[in-house]
Amino acid sequence: MSSLPKQFVQTLRDVHKDKADEWLRDFDKLINDCEKRWQIKIMTPFDLSFNFVAPAIRKDGTEVVIKLVIPGDEFESEVDALTLFNGNGIVKIIDVDIARGILILERLIPGKTLASLENEEEAAQTASQVMKKLWIHAPTHSTNIPTTKHMEKKLLNISKRNTEGLGPITKEILQEAVNTYITMNAMPDKPYLLHGDLHHYNILMAAREPWLAIDPKGLIGDREYDVIQYLLNKLPNGDSTHVIEKRIDIFVKELNLDKKRMLSWGFAHSVLATCWTVQEDGSYSEPFFDAIHVFRSLKQR
Ligand SMILES: Nc1ncnc2c1ncn2[C@@H]1O[C@H](COP(=O)(O)OP(=O)(O)O)[C@@H](O)[C@H]1O
Ligand SMILES: [Mg+2]
Repeated sequence: MSSLPKQFVQTLRDVHKDKADEWLRDFDKLINDCEKRWQIKIMTPFDLSFNFVAPAIRKDGTEVVIKLVIPGDEFESEVDALTLFNGNGIVKIIDVDIARGILILERLIPGKTLASLENEEEAAQTASQVMKKLWIHAPTHSTNIPTTKHMEKKLLNISKRNTEGLGPITKEILQEAVNTYITMNAMPDKPYLLHGDLHHYNILMAAREPWLAIDPKGLIGDREYDVIQYLLNKLPNGDSTHVIEKRIDIFVKELNLDKKRMLSWGFAHSVLATCWTVQEDGSYSEPFFDAIHVFRSLKQR
């Protein structure tokens, strides 16, 4: 196995601290063990961001994908979500080892992402088709999957730790977003099992279906919540109001969703998403930050 990209190693250390060093130390052994156990040859990885993901070839020549994750709650939620979705609108699990953080997945071919579609309308309609297949009623048994109430708690903790605001986000906006979470979570609606990170780069061109999702975080809540991550990605430089509104209208129409709920969740989640991007040097995601005000002004219209 050739050495891992520096940036990827840095990301692992930033996110997982000491756990990352332990995992990296045993990485070669993990690769060897996987190759033996599943009788596969692991190839050069895809572009890595948070986890090690690579194509692999089985003895009979068929291809799979191996995903190696530092084990923990997020991984368990991902596996639970993939298991419950059961391949509808999403990649199928071939095998899994929860304790060691190993997923063997069907390989999606050609695998290019939805970000490669230039036509906004076509892309949003394609994403709608995936969402239609994917979303199911939330399971009634207990799972490792967080709910939108957990998101509310995350933002509440951020606002308690940053009483004067965080980065570009004022304390007033933080408070307004916390209140929006509280109001929205208190409104009874039938909860769904959601993907939790359904943006352009987690929808791939496939063969079993034209397009399939990958990489769910798993989330339980309103369907309107699950389109926000898409609305926040692949935005043009400058004013994004027009593009966000166009996407919203397509989702409302195609998926029969409530526009007002979508705008409220959009406002609340884009505040949380921006907070997650604020760095020590003061930089942050400008598209996420700008979207806060787009959702806010659309809501007030
Ligand atoms: N089942 C798959 N088939 C083909 N390519 C995949 C598959 N799963 C992941 N990939 C590729 O690997 C990349 C990273 O995978 P992903 O699960 O999104 O990892 P991360 O959790 O680090 O975001 C994807 O963007 C995609 O290019
Ligand atoms: Mg991903």
